[in-house]
Amino acid sequence: MKIVRTIEELREVRKQLASPLGFVPTMGYLHEGHLSLVRQARSSCVSVVVSIYVNPTQFGPLEDLDAYPRDIPRDISLLENEGVDLVWLPDDKIMYPERYQTWVIVEEVSRPLEGAMRPGHFRGVTTIVAKLFNCVQPTFAYFGQKDAQQAVVIRQMTQDLNFPVEIVVCPIIREPDGLAMSSRNNYLSEKERKRAKVLYRSLIAAQRAFDTGEKDAEKLRIIMADIVRQESVAQLHYVSCAAPMTLEEINGEVNHALLSMAVYFGKTRLIDNVIIGRVDDVSSWSSEKS
Ligand code: PAJ
Repeated sequence: MKIVRTIEELREVRKQLASPLGFVPTMGYLHEGHLSLVRQARSSCVSVVVSIYVNPTQFGPLEDLDAYPRDIPRDISLLENEGVDLVWLPDDKIMYPERYQTWVIVEEVSRPLEGAMRPGHFRGVTTIVAKLFNCVQPTFAYFGQKDAQQAVVIRQMTQDLNFPVEIVVCPIIREPDGLAMSSRNNYLSEKERKRAKVLYRSLIAAQRAFDTGEKDAEKLRIIMADIVRQESVAQLHYVSCAAPMTLEEINGEVNHALLSMAVYFGKTRLIDNVIIGRVDDVSSWSSEKS
């Protein structure tokens, strides 16, 4: 496994890697969720590249950039075990040199949900992912449904800017109690960690209600919100029942939706989602067995 830092080194090693090339962009502190993307890339591609970079421009001024967990030696040994060909570890001077001034903004699908709660977040994500794509030049790029809106926004950017990259969205990997794996789970106290399964529990309750006939979007939002509110340490940030492709909030009858939410446990903000309805029609989304 080669490990490089600069764009020059990356391009040099990239030239020698055979196609199709699968790319997994990450911010490190890897867990089974990240590794599931790497395994998917490994099984469908001849070469696999992983980047680890905590991108400062996607963090808000009050967010956890400095506290974001990092453990590069551990990440490297995990990636080595997965048979990754190349790991790229750029730094801020490489990605945002002095006088950096170009930004990629995806308009509509970046606005609701996480975009509304975290102004500027997706501008940072799309800018860094565009730069990573230009440097790595992958055939396929792998993203998790865990960050469902991020996947939608990146797919839109890829189409709109004609990146010759196919976006693959992979299922959410969960802990045994249903909590979606996340680097941020490490911030939770023991008590918060126990309560954090409420996100998945409330999503599943809404999914069951839908499967057994509840088709009203507002009722599904209420089912989710009520369950989260019953959990004393949980602070609901938002719940949503939105169209999976446009991410517009649904009012009235639901045929097919992205149910999603953000919940605070103390300072730790967790997100989760499930897709409901019309499974035959969600080819661009991963399927998750519950
Ligand atoms: P990061 O949070 O490190 O996540 C990297 C990738 O792993 C994302 O595509 C994310 O959706 C996926 N992922 C995280 N937890 C997962 C889980 N439990 N199951 C499946 N996939 C999971 O997302 C980012 O980094 C950044 O925004 C990035 C795209 C790297 C740009 O900076």
